[in-house]
Amino acid sequence: MGLMDGKRGLVVGIANDHSYAYFIAEALLRHGAECLFTHLPGEKMQRRVSRAINELGVAEPWLVPLDVCSDNDLDTVFAKIGDEFESIDFLVHSIAFADRAWLKDGTFAATPREVFAQALDISAYSYMAMATRAAPLMTSGGSMVAMSYYGAQKAAPCYNVMGVAKAALESITRYLARDLGPSNIRVNTISGGPLRTMSALAVGGFSDLFDWVERRAPMKRNVTGSEVGESAVYLLSDLSLGVTGQTLFVDCGFSSVAL
Ligand SMILES: NC(=O)c1ccc[n+]([C@@H]2O[C@H](COP(=O)([O-])OP(=O)(O)OC[C@H]3O[C@@H](n4cnc5c(N)ncnc54)[C@H](O)[C@@H]3O)[C@@H](O)[C@H]2O)c1
Repeated sequence: MGLMDGKRGLVVGIANDHSYAYFIAEALLRHGAECLFTHLPGEKMQRRVSRAINELGVAEPWLVPLDVCSDNDLDTVFAKIGDEFESIDFLVHSIAFADRAWLKDGTFAATPREVFAQALDISAYSYMAMATRAAPLMTSGGSMVAMSYYGAQKAAPCYNVMGVAKAALESITRYLARDLGPSNIRVNTISGGPLRTMSALAVGGFSDLFDWVERRAPMKRNVTGSEVGESAVYLLSDLSLGVTGQTLFVDCGFSSVAL
């Protein structure tokens, strides 16, 4: 019997088969979940995301466009889920964006207002925007997970405005947990180690991080996408029924050591 048997939910954030969301969906499906998906609007994005989902063995995926900057898109996606399925049990938020021109060392202080606002909107506020629409569909309770990074808690090279957005995301997790806890809905975040994805490569000097983690992390290696996927299953399944408002580090212990 699978840990996610009988559970259905929305996975937002697959860009391709390198995405953290891809590994999370792979683990969820393997444990018996039914997954619904979104793609950034546009035919090219739809084709790319469809290809990745097909690789997961989902023959006819439920796949709809979603740009989280659009309230209309958000309303449409969750209304469609309500119409077609009535309820969901989980939500995965695995998205982030910041203008890469400002993800270089020495540029943080000069980050323009619109770059800051966009990064916070897409990478942090969107968790609230999705949670408030998903909660009424979680009629038997539910669980939500977003993806963060250690740069939320310590100033990391080049991470800049994205670190500020991740700090907001981790705080949002705690406040959502307070609001939604009485409805038996749990809200958590995973702080994942570096993984070679499209978004990660936009952060300046990202490759150096891998060597740094290999040297410093207690496990002397980088985390894999599958390991993060399994931890997401833990947080989205009944194995973690008493866990909410938390940021769970899945980073081979990197965040637990000093020098
Ligand atoms: N890769 C890493 O090293 C790493 C480490 C820790 C946390 N994370 C986090 O994991 C999450 C997933 O990123 P990833 O590394 O898998 O990269 P990715 O590029 O594969 O995924 C990022 C996703 O964000 C989506 N997105 C961006 N703007 C959007 C918008 N306006 N509306 C809807 N979707 C939008 C993209 O379509 C893409 O699917 C992000 O929150 C990222 O910050 C990544």
